[in-house]
Amino acid sequence: MSMEEMHRWDQAHVVHPWSYAGPSLMIARAKGTRYWDADGREYLDALGGIQNCSAGHSRPELIEAARAQMEKLEYVPMHWNFTNEPAVELARTIATLAPGELNQTYFVSSGSEATESAVKLVRRYHYLRGDTKRATILCLKQGYHGATILATAATGFDNLQQGFGPLPGGIKFLTPPHAYRTELFGNEDPVEFCIRQLEQVIAEEGADTIAALMAEPVLTVGGVIVPPAEYWPAVSEICRRHGILVVADEVVTGFGRTGAWFASPAIGMAPDAIVFGKGVSSGHFPLSGVVMSDEIAQTIKAAPDGLMHGFTYCGHPVGCAVASRNIEILQDTGLLENSRDVGAYLLAVLKEKLGNSPIVGDVRGCGLLLAVELVSDKETRAPLQFKRQALADRIRNEHAVVVRSIGANIIIAPPLILSRAEADTIAHALEQVISTTKPDGTQS
Ligand SMILES: Cc1ncc(COP(=O)(O)O)c(C=O)c1O
Repeated sequence: MSMEEMHRWDQAHVVHPWSYAGPSLMIARAKGTRYWDADGREYLDALGGIQNCSAGHSRPELIEAARAQMEKLEYVPMHWNFTNEPAVELARTIATLAPGELNQTYFVSSGSEATESAVKLVRRYHYLRGDTKRATILCLKQGYHGATILATAATGFDNLQQGFGPLPGGIKFLTPPHAYRTELFGNEDPVEFCIRQLEQVIAEEGADTIAALMAEPVLTVGGVIVPPAEYWPAVSEICRRHGILVVADEVVTGFGRTGAWFASPAIGMAPDAIVFGKGVSSGHFPLSGVVMSDEIAQTIKAAPDGLMHGFTYCGHPVGCAVASRNIEILQDTGLLENSRDVGAYLLAVLKEKLGNSPIVGDVRGCGLLLAVELVSDKETRAPLQFKRQALADRIRNEHAVVVRSIGANIIIAPPLILSRAEADTIAHALEQVISTTKPDGTQS
C-alpha cells in the first residue's frame, strides 16, 4: 500500500486527539532521541513523545521486559484479591522513591484516569472519616489534569472546557503562581497574592467543604510555570492547617523529568498523594497511578465495603514490569543527573541565544522541561499571536526538531538521554525560527 493511500485512509478513518487541520505526518520508526518518518527523514524528538519517552524510544531492555512478561502472564485483573508480582514489585519500588509516608499505589493506565482516581480516593478518604462535606477540589488556572470529563473540569483553560456540555462541579480555581505574568497579581508580590487568595477562598468556601488541592508542582501545559521558591511550602502549610489534602499531579514532572524522582518534594510541596504517569514507563506501555500516604490508603482499605472504584487495566502486569525496568534504567544510567545537567545547559543556551529577541518574553525550565514564552511586545508582555502549532510546525519542517507550542509557549521536553550536542541542535532550530518571526506572528 502506498503512503499516499495511507494518508488518505488516515484522513478518512482516523480521528486524531488534539487535532487541527493539515496534512498528517506518518512516523514509521523511532530509536533513542530520534523519529523517522515514512519517507526516511530523521527528526530529533525534543518532546520525548508527549513528555513521556524519558529513557528514549524503543529501548531494547524495555522491549525485552514487555516480551518476557507477556509470555509469562499477559494479563490478570487486580480486582478483588487478585494480584501479580510486577505490580507488587513496582509498588514497593515507588514507595522507596516517593517522599515521606507515601507508600501505597493505586495503578491505572493514563494520566487522566489517575487524576480522576486521585479525586475519588481523597473524597472517599474524607467520607470514611465522617468528613462527608469535604468534596471541593482546589485547582490552579492554567493547570492541566487530563481530558476525561472530571479532569477537563479540573483543567484551568477556558478553551479546553468550552463546547463539551455541562462539566462536573466541585472545582474551585486559584490564580497560578506565574511570576512572569505580573498582571495577574496587581501590584502585589505573586506569592503574597496567591496565599491571600487561598486563605480567602478557604474562608469563603469553608475549610470543612474542601477535600484537596490538586496541582502540578511545575505547570507544564500552562507554559512550564515554575513557582517562586516560597510558594509551595506556604501553600502546603495552609492546606495542612485546614485539613485539606495536597495532591501533586506529577504526570509530567515525575520520574526524573525535572531532575528528581518527584518534583514536589524538591520544590517544597508536601503532598499527601502524587499522581504519576507518562515517564514511569517511558511510553513503552500505558501506565499511571496514584501513590498515597499510608493514612489515606489504610483508611480506604479498612472500609467494610472495600473500594468500589477500578478499571480493567489496573496494575497491568506488562506495564508494571516495563516500569520497573524503566526505573532501573533511569537509576543505573544516571538519567536524573543528565536531566539536571543537560537541562541547565539547554536553559543557559536558550537564554543566551534568544534573550535579546524582541518576541521572547521569558525562557524558563526545570531539568529537561523547558519553555520559551513568546510575546508581541516585551513591555506589555502581550502574548504573540500565531496560528496554533504554526511555530512548532516550522521548527519541525525546517529543522527536523519536534517541539510543541501551547498558546504562546514553545515547550521542550526531550528524552532524558539528550546530549549537550543535541541540546545545541534544539536551541539552533528555535533561534532560526524565532529570529524569522515578526512581532505580529507572521514570518519575515
Ligand atoms: C499534568 C498532567 N496531568 C494529567 C495528564 C493526563 O494524562 P493522559 O494524557 O495520559 O491522560 C497530563 C497529560 O499531558 C498532564 O500533563
